[in-house]
Amino acid sequence: MAFKTLLAVAIAYFISASAQSNSPYCDSTSGICYQGYTDPEMEMTIGFVLPPLTDPPSNEFIAQIVAPASYGWTGLSAGGQMAESLLFTLWPYNGEVMLGPRWASGYVLPEPYAGPTITLLPDSTVNSTHIKASFRCQNCTVWEGGSFGSGDLNSFQLIAYVASTTVPVDDPSDIASSLEEHNEFDFFGLDLTTVHDPNYSSYINGGSATSTAAPSSSSAPSSSSSAPSSAPPSSTSSASGAVQTQWGQCGGTGWTGPTVCASGLTCIAVSPPYYSQCQ
Ligand SMILES: *[C@@H]1O[C@H](CO)[C@@H](O)[C@H](O)[C@H]1NC(C)=O
Ligand SMILES: *[C@@H]1O[C@H](CO)[C@@H](O)[C@H](O)[C@H]1NC(C)=O
Ligand SMILES: *[C@@H]1O[C@H](CO)[C@@H](O)[C@H](O)[C@H]1NC(C)=O
Repeated sequence: MAFKTLLAVAIAYFISASAQSNSPYCDSTSGICYQGYTDPEMEMTIGFVLPPLTDPPSNEFIAQIVAPASYGWTGLSAGGQMAESLLFTLWPYNGEVMLGPRWASGYVLPEPYAGPTITLLPDSTVNSTHIKASFRCQNCTVWEGGSFGSGDLNSFQLIAYVASTTVPVDDPSDIASSLEEHNEFDFFGLDLTTVHDPNYSSYINGGSATSTAAPSSSSAPSSSSSAPSSAPPSSTSSASGAVQTQWGQCGGTGWTGPTVCASGLTCIAVSPPYYSQCQ
């Protein structure tokens, strides 16, 4: 029933136009700058950053979800609605970030969705108070039944976020776990003219933590937090002459890190011209 309410509120949002909208913020750990929204009641922060506009357009983005660690699960809809949207579900399990893409044909339990490639960035963490997932999502701007900005990445996208504040998922160890309906939801409007960041290519491997001057406190996150479904981005090496490890960045626009891959790996332009990766 709340799913129906979600739809009704989405429609009301378009009519009222008085709703909340994005503003810029930078994550102090990664240095990645997002356009997003912090909901003071649900205590959640949602952010997006996209590559510069190109023709043809890139099919990826980086998104961030920060939520209280006490919540059973939280979710995000890149299409602003439940049905026929690219959805994400997130919860902590044993100190790890459990994040996965989902999709639903209607107002039913969303099932895991094949298609997107999700890579958790190194600043993703679970601590005593919060879960934070920062993730690169490739093949994520078009999905079955819809697309980001309705196909125009310089337009507008309504973003929906939900939370089950008390009820955990049925099996938190399983990224594909069934789950109970959320009890909280809200929306913000994302102005897509503001989300294209020329520094995107430097964000892909985790942001400034990997390249620019390191903060004095060596805040190296003990990154044990990677979802089973994704390959953890590795290597935070920034020394010139360094060798990149598997799945690490080895080239692309603005890249100043290592360009040589470890033995047995090849540097492949996976998202030219922005990003090359050791595979
Ligand atoms: C991209 O995602 C769609 C589903 O949205 C899927 O059908 C397609 O196979 C994916 N493409 C690649 C190259 O993974
Ligand atoms: C826990 O994580 C949140 C979100 O990343 C952060 O704002 C907060 O400072 C962290 N708390 C501690 C004690 O590290
Ligand atoms: C891109 O990065 C440079 C160097 O870190 C910074 O000066 C600039 O403000 C950044 N641009 C944006 C749009 O964030």
